Amino acid sequence: MTDVVIKASNLSRRYDEGSGRVDVLNGVSLDVSRGERLAIIGSSGSGKSTLLHLLGALDKPTTGEVLIQGENITAMRAKAAGDARNRLLGFVYQFHHLLAEFNALENVALPLMIRGAKPSEAEARAEHYLNRVGMSSRLSHKPGQLSGGERQRAAIARALVTEPCCVLADEPTGNLDDTNSGMIDELLTELSQDSDTAFVVVTHDIALAAKMDRTLMLSDGLLQLFEG
Ligand SMILES: Nc1ncnc2c1ncn2[C@@H]1O[C@H](COP(=O)(O)OP(=O)(O)OP(=O)(O)O)[C@@H](O)[C@H]1O
Ligand SMILES: [Mg+2]
Repeated sequence: MTDVVIKASNLSRRYDEGSGRVDVLNGVSLDVSRGERLAIIGSSGSGKSTLLHLLGALDKPTTGEVLIQGENITAMRAKAAGDARNRLLGFVYQFHHLLAEFNALENVALPLMIRGAKPSEAEARAEHYLNRVGMSSRLSHKPGQLSGGERQRAAIARALVTEPCCVLADEPTGNLDDTNSGMIDELLTELSQDSDTAFVVVTHDIALAAKMDRTLMLSDGLLQLFEG
């Protein structure tokens, strides 16, 4: 097994869909090691979500490629890329993307159900991760009945439930108070140490970034080491 879980080379993304051409990334290369906790910071509109979507096979780069555990997800068709995402990655979206008609437990169990897990096992594991994010008393609430921070924590549990080698998280603590934010931070540290899970976390939270192993700043379409 390789010690580099994500290898991205020369990524660029051009948006050219009628609203005028926008070049967001300008040849970004990035290696993420097993168990590493990496923060990505940068101003609004600098391309952080764009980069995370490319790393997570949710979008295709204009140039460059992304390997996850040695598998070239950029070369895959949509179906294979979706399968690879479910097998290899956890993704926390900036705007959570929980399914409105399912409750918290069902939302978190869903990635395991997609893999064909038995419902009872999927729900047991979902409950475990909802406990870990302090949501044990909200299992049967639907997203519309949860607070913004609770939705965010459910989305984090959903990304962790498959115990992937790498979790990509877009502003995971954006709606959280200090206590809950600290709990998430401790959970990431524990999983990176005990399970070798790598984390790539986009954040505006400098306190969170400071606790990571490495912080990179996205600016002018390129990543630079940030030593704030
Ligand atoms: N589908 C699209 N079509 C055209 N332009 C887009 C599209 N998606 C994003 N952009 C532009 O690309 C730039 C980067 O967007 P992105 O969402 O990656 O920024 P971000 O760093 O995540 O910002 P924020 O901190 O506000 O979440 C923005 O200027 C945005 O307007
Ligand atoms: Mg964003």
